[in-house]
Amino acid sequence: MDREAWTSVDRWLEAQLLGPDPVLEAALAASDAARLPPIAVSPLQGRLLHVLALLVGARRILEIGTLGGYSAIWLARALPADGRLVTLELEPHHAAIARANLARAGLADRVELRVGAARDSLAALAADRPAPFDLVFIDADKPSIPDYLTRTLRLVRPGSLIVIDNVVRDGEVTDPASRDPAVLGVRRAVEMIRDDPRLVATALQTVGSKGWDGLLLARFVDGR
Ligand code: SAH
Ligand code: DHB
Ligand code: MG
Repeated sequence: MDREAWTSVDRWLEAQLLGPDPVLEAALAASDAARLPPIAVSPLQGRLLHVLALLVGARRILEIGTLGGYSAIWLARALPADGRLVTLELEPHHAAIARANLARAGLADRVELRVGAARDSLAALAADRPAPFDLVFIDADKPSIPDYLTRTLRLVRPGSLIVIDNVVRDGEVTDPASRDPAVLGVRRAVEMIRDDPRLVATALQTVGSKGWDGLLLARFVDGR
C-alpha cells in the first residue's frame, strides 16, 4: 500500500460520503492561488471535525491555526446560528485569505479570526474570561502544542473535546533519534495527556491524500 492507493480510496469515499462542495472547493482554490501551503486537513478529516462538533453539540469552538480557513469552514458549519468559532492565525496573509473564504461560505458572522501568535492570542482570550469552549482544534506550529494544550485546559468545561492534528508525522513520532522540534512537541503533549487524570484520550493513525499522520482526541474530565 502506498500514498497513491490511499489517495484513490480517499477520493472514492469523498465521492460517496461528501459529494461536490463548491464552497470548500473555492476555499482550496483561493488558498492555492494565494500560495498558501497545501496542508489543510483532508476533506474526510474535515468532515470528521464537523461530525465531532455535532456530537459534542458544540456552540463554541476554538481553533489554533487557521491557514486559509478550510477546517474552520467544516467546524463553523456545525455551529448553531448563534454559535461562535474563534480561530487563531499568525500570518496576516493566511488570515486575509481565510476571511475571504469564510465570508464566501456565509460564515463570517459566526467566526472571529484573531491574528497574531497563538500564545499571545490565547493569553488575551483567557484574560477576557470567555464562556468555555466545547471543542478545541489544535493545528498550528507543532513545537508549541504542549503550550497550547496547557492554555486550552483553562478554556474548556467538563465534556469538552480537544483534537490535536499531526501527531504521527510519517511515524517519526516514535523515532528515538528524532530531534525534530515538531516531534518533540507532539511527544511532550502525549506525555502531558497521559499524566493528566482529567483527560481520557485516544489517537488514530490516518492514511490518505495527506500521507501518513494522525489525530489525537481527548475528552476533558471524564469522571474516572
Ligand atoms: N487548520 C488548518 C491548517 C492549519 S496549518 C486547516 O486544516 O485548514 C497551520 C497554520 O498555523 C498556518 O497557517 C500557520 O501560519 C499557523 N501558525 C504557525 N505558527 C503559529 C503561531 N505561533 N500562532 C498562530 N498560528 C500559527
Ligand atoms: C504541516 C502542518 C499541518 O497542520 C499539517 O496538517 C500538515 C503539515 C506542516 O507544518 O508541515
Ligand atoms: Mg494539521
